[in-house]
Amino acid sequence: MNLDEARAVLREHGQEHLLKYYDQLSPQEREVLLNQIAGINFSVFHALDAGGERKIGKLSPVPAVTVHDVELRRAEFEDIGLAAIRAGKVAAVLLAGGQGTRLGSDNPKGMFNIGITRELSIFEQQFVNISEVTRKAGAYFHIFIMTSEVNNSATVQFFRQKNFFGYPSEKVHFFVQDMAATCDLNGKIFLEEKGRISMSPNGNGGWYASLLKNGEGDILSREGIEWLNVYSVDNVLQRICDPVFVGATINGGAGCGAKVVKKVAPEEKVGVLCMEDGAPAIVEYYEMPPELASLRRPDGELKFPYGVILNYLFRVDLLNKTTDKRLPVHLSLKKIPHIEDGVLVKPEEPNGYKFEYLVLDMIKLMGSCLAVEVVREREFAPVKNRTGTDSVDTARALLVKNGVKL
Ligand code: UTP
Repeated sequence: MNLDEARAVLREHGQEHLLKYYDQLSPQEREVLLNQIAGINFSVFHALDAGGERKIGKLSPVPAVTVHDVELRRAEFEDIGLAAIRAGKVAAVLLAGGQGTRLGSDNPKGMFNIGITRELSIFEQQFVNISEVTRKAGAYFHIFIMTSEVNNSATVQFFRQKNFFGYPSEKVHFFVQDMAATCDLNGKIFLEEKGRISMSPNGNGGWYASLLKNGEGDILSREGIEWLNVYSVDNVLQRICDPVFVGATINGGAGCGAKVVKKVAPEEKVGVLCMEDGAPAIVEYYEMPPELASLRRPDGELKFPYGVILNYLFRVDLLNKTTDKRLPVHLSLKKIPHIEDGVLVKPEEPNGYKFEYLVLDMIKLMGSCLAVEVVREREFAPVKNRTGTDSVDTARALLVKNGVKL
């Protein structure tokens, strides 16, 4: 893209200010900026028109396999799951492209040391969890790891340095997710340097599109992978390719499965899995009308009891049918450093938006979803914050409770 073409594109979208410092840039910096302009996905900016609001449809409870059901049928589900893993039909996808701003560490979140008397990264603890499954199955599964441009090299380097935590490296595949431009509250795109647009990872919902774009789709078809277990990096009790979960989902004939926990209170800040206008959906805690969140059944249980823990099982053939479908774009209000009057400003308060696709919106596209309830204290120890709720402290306490020596 040359300067005239860039000017025309920016004029069309009301973003001409991005060339404000063009004359001050070196030839290389100019080229970088023009390339960035050529790559901007302006379609996400439509999210600004809706102001990030979404209308909630008619909600009803989702079909679920409860902890009690699992206890009754554990062996049966586990056999189905282990058979699928041994046949190479199941692979894992680790979402590790986030910036972990709340944790406030410059390194990738998975590198965070959760140990106390010894070094134990979140990545390592998740691989310890994985080893329980591979030992039982007598087989390794493929693991695809999504990083972002911001943390890819640090992540790959860490895995090499740690010798892939003893996992066969030929089964571990890294891919980089897409980025989206950030903007101020009026939709004007930020510069982070005079010649560089401020970009951030475009959310965890772009994982399948990015995986295909990076050419990993060949591995899926070559190896006959039918199911992808997608999970977040920030749960140290995350059970990955759990044979019971895999078996229950396959047995249930659903398009996808979601691990869920019973909410501790109606207002708990977790996305709620339910049916919305007849299709499975996850309603974020801030979208859920309080009167619905607190509705109870005659037996006293919440009508919408299940919170998701970012551990899903997707059917690959259904994912392939959704590649042309647009996911909604979410606005995330953040503190975004940027150039103002030629100098870098680091705001104290949220000053702009990042644009994100979310994996939870993919559930709807799968047609049906089976909720598989798990025991919270055994499987859900999120590390979002440094202290307080869902923090390093609470995750450590839960690890100790589960017999992990820190
Ligand atoms: P979060 O929504 O908690 O975001 O990610 P985050 O970026 O890690 O943390 P904050 O909000 O800045 O504090 C949930 C999961 O989705 C992944 C994260 O790595 C984590 O596993 N994720 C998030 C991505 O892979 N890409 C993204 O763009 C965002």
